[in-house]
Amino acid sequence: MIRIKSAREIQLMRRAGKITAAARALAGKMVAPGVTTLEIDRAVHDFIVSQGAVPTFLGYGGYPANLCISINDQVIHGIPDGNTVIREGDVVSIDVGATKDGYVGDCAATFIAGRAKDQEAEKLVSVTRQSFFEGIKFARQGFRISDIGSAIQQYVEANGFSVVREYVGHGVGREMHEEPEVPNFGRPGHGPRLVRGMVIAVEPMVNAGGWPVKVLKDGWTVVTQDGSLSAHYENTILITDGEPEILTVCEEQV
Ligand code: CO
Repeated sequence: MIRIKSAREIQLMRRAGKITAAARALAGKMVAPGVTTLEIDRAVHDFIVSQGAVPTFLGYGGYPANLCISINDQVIHGIPDGNTVIREGDVVSIDVGATKDGYVGDCAATFIAGRAKDQEAEKLVSVTRQSFFEGIKFARQGFRISDIGSAIQQYVEANGFSVVREYVGHGVGREMHEEPEVPNFGRPGHGPRLVRGMVIAVEPMVNAGGWPVKVLKDGWTVVTQDGSLSAHYENTILITDGEPEILTVCEEQV
């Protein structure tokens, strides 16, 4: 069942979204050569707690950290640790969730540490981000869920990259993962019809090479099978009777 949010719930989700977006911006600013991913994890934890919120990912299905940091061929769910030092040119995807007053915000973005190694890395990051905005052109009442992913896939493939199939976006609310699933690929005109009051996370994961991925032995880290670079971009959005409202926003845009 897709849970439609009341006006009061939407107000709470705006607050959760703002904290989550600020946490993402803070993490993004810390992405630099020489920084360990654990340092970013600690800073994000402290920020979320300072806002009276809870890091949603910590303990979720046994996940051992406060956010996910996925570098280069890592797609999603990279676990921060004190031995992972960010290097010049690394493509660093940050994914963070915060729960405030019982409601979840979920967002991600990809940053390059220092100078990019090549133009392909820069293009991958900008195409991934833009694919989100291409997708949410269809996140409006009357369209259907698969219209979003269809637009994402078309844009990504027109730019020579591929969209990950095994992981998808999702509804968001009191739970991080609610119905419906929101794939980033497929044909238009399928899935539930969008109505105002739905809240969903749209989160394209884009590989420079092929779309197949695999999970490392740690049970979490998802990497590209061909070793190609990958990027991720995500916001939690509200379906309205007009343009979708991005809930994971704050002053510093990423
Ligand atoms: Co998500």
